[in-house]
Amino acid sequence: MAEATKKAFVTGHPVKHSRSPKIHGYWLAEHGIDGSYEAIDVAPQDFAEFVATLRPAGFRGGNVTIPHKEAAFALAERHDQAAEEIGAVNTLWFEDGVLWGGNTDGHGFAANLDDYAPGWASNGPAVVLGAGGASRAIIQALKQRGIADIRIVNRTLARAQELRDRFGTGISAHGMAATNELLADAGVLVNTTALGMHGNEGLSADPALLPAHAIVTDIVYVPLETPLLAAARARGLKTVDGLGMLLNQAVPGFERWFGVRPKVTAELRAIIVADLVPKA
Ligand code: ATR
Repeated sequence: MAEATKKAFVTGHPVKHSRSPKIHGYWLAEHGIDGSYEAIDVAPQDFAEFVATLRPAGFRGGNVTIPHKEAAFALAERHDQAAEEIGAVNTLWFEDGVLWGGNTDGHGFAANLDDYAPGWASNGPAVVLGAGGASRAIIQALKQRGIADIRIVNRTLARAQELRDRFGTGISAHGMAATNELLADAGVLVNTTALGMHGNEGLSADPALLPAHAIVTDIVYVPLETPLLAAARARGLKTVDGLGMLLNQAVPGFERWFGVRPKVTAELRAIIVADLVPKA
């Protein structure tokens, strides 16, 4: 009997803007795998039922995006270490009949910097703008890479303090007023807020205050060059856009579901870049 098509998914609410089907579809075709990867919109109240139907429906696993990452964490039977640290799951898979939840966002973040700013983890203190869901994965990755001084800056100080308490040693929490001072000796600046996304212009930190060796990165990738990255580039600083994080976070999931570790290539990047033009 022929082996059944290998099935995976991405779920979110909404999910129609997700670029994940394009990324995984590219790799499925590249490797000639009899597989599928579909986007499934699931409302929050239906998420638990959706997860319960994955096994009978024959899914090997899939990706989970906003707003389901915490619910997926709660529903997974086992977690990898990153998911445990972050408290959220972006990748689900079955292993010996057990539903595992992992988090590959931090991996995507670090792998992107490895590609475009090798040695970044030895560049000095990191300043992280924002203390939302996305910020957690960044902090997990920074800690995992041994950054000893991580400074979280957030409009709402209490949220930054919550993350500091969650991640512990080496992390400090600050309100926006402290930003300038914190940048003066920083080696890495990461924006995890939606500031700078299309329709949400604004800068919450001035890269001109950073030392000349600093690296500036943004997890926002629409537009590819955010106002923060543009300002950093104008100052001659090294910048890394957020698209590589998206591409790299997809790698471990594909490997789990389809059995091949795929590569993030210039061709794949170009395909996704072509798709980033804002849709009216
Ligand atoms: P995500 O899961 O994408 O990180 P989130 O949990 O809503 O989204 O967090 C958004 C982050 O952007 C938060 O750090 C938020 O600051 P607050 O915690 O104070 O809300 C930050 N943010 C959003 N709009 C902002 C603005 N206009 N100025 C400063 N920070 C902003």
